[in-house]
Amino acid sequence: MDEVTNPYMPGAGMRPVALLGRDAQQDQWTTQLARAEHGRPGRSSVLYGLRGVGKTVLLGKLHEEAEQRGWVAGFIEAGTGKGLRELVAEAFQLPLLNLARPSASEKIKAALKTFVSFKASVDSTGTWSFGLDLDGSDGGGADSGALEMDLLRLILDLTTATREDGKGVALLIDEAQDLTNAEMATLCSLVHIANQRSLPFVVALAGLPSLPAALAEAKSYTERLFQFSHIQHLPDHDARAVLTEPARLESVEWESDAVTLAVEVSRGYPYFLQEFGSKTWSVAPGPGITQRDAELGCAEGLRELDNGFFRARWDRATPQERDYLKAIAIDGDAGSNSRAVADRLGKSMSQISVARSNLIAKGLIYAPEHGRVAFTVPQMADFISRQHA
Ligand SMILES: Nc1ncnc2c1ncn2[C@@H]1O[C@H](COP(=O)(O)OP(=O)(O)OP(=O)(O)O)[C@@H](O)[C@H]1O
Ligand SMILES: [Mg+2]
Repeated sequence: MDEVTNPYMPGAGMRPVALLGRDAQQDQWTTQLARAEHGRPGRSSVLYGLRGVGKTVLLGKLHEEAEQRGWVAGFIEAGTGKGLRELVAEAFQLPLLNLARPSASEKIKAALKTFVSFKASVDSTGTWSFGLDLDGSDGGGADSGALEMDLLRLILDLTTATREDGKGVALLIDEAQDLTNAEMATLCSLVHIANQRSLPFVVALAGLPSLPAALAEAKSYTERLFQFSHIQHLPDHDARAVLTEPARLESVEWESDAVTLAVEVSRGYPYFLQEFGSKTWSVAPGPGITQRDAELGCAEGLRELDNGFFRARWDRATPQERDYLKAIAIDGDAGSNSRAVADRLGKSMSQISVARSNLIAKGLIYAPEHGRVAFTVPQMADFISRQHA
């Protein structure tokens, strides 16, 4: 059928036409923002899950909601080689530009001046400004070089300004597992202080399943600061709707058996559903989508995943690391006991520790609990068995 109207969105962070099965997280966020607007502290959000389950698009939705409520909301992605200070300076620049008017209140001007000082501490030219004369305003001083102190100064002044209008400040961080331990500790302290002082400052973090443990390692009280939400594959009725709803908007109907097949092959993983939906749409002659179309589309989609999504990760591993991955794949997606992996390879735990930590650093595996390892990508085990069948 027509590629121009293909309604599926396979790709990292690509907003789906129908975002399904994430109402609980969105409702929790709405409550959190509303509470903060009334000076009532709540727990910030942590969304964690495997690759392709939909963390980025959900975080994007949360960001959009904060913006729509008139909050100052910054969205950043960790792990891009930039530190938290630089990322925060970039994230708040645009939202604050919207507040930068000559008629702005003194509190807003003070917050802008503090932001300019914060920004100057990362901007080597040090000449960036909002185009406003802030000389006579309060504020500034967020450039001591001590990250926690400077961020606290910034958040204090920003929330003082937004509170005039009953709004707050939100910081959303994607790929948060890539923050350093010190950056995580700083963030935890900030959320903690904001809660103690009832400041309207809320944080949402998204990352791999290793994120909750990494946060707990950075600060001991994270379970009281954050509400942890495990983002998983979709239950059957939502997975079916991921396929049928976007098609229906284009007046195209899926046969029930066709949906069942695509949901089964994707096992309800959002990224795979989008990929299989898209390929099925492409191969289907129309007007509706039949089981035969779904068979062809899923086979085509799987080839595409093998050559792209899975292959890209496999190619990142060295031969020794691939042996390690093959040994985990025997247990499927559930993951393995590290000792069992060593036994399978005929090695001691210390002999395989380098491969293990390299694979964790490359983001291919993670430790779901002490002494265990698992793939960060759903169905990686199947891919590996397909390669060596
Ligand atoms: N709830 C959902 N309903 C329908 N489609 C979704 C949903 N969540 C995500 N998707 C689709 O799944 C794909 C992956 O989404 P996204 O990039 O947000 O995943 P992710 O968890 O951030 O992955 P990664 O860990 O690789 O960054 C996209 O194509 C997106 O359109
Ligand atoms: Mg993502």
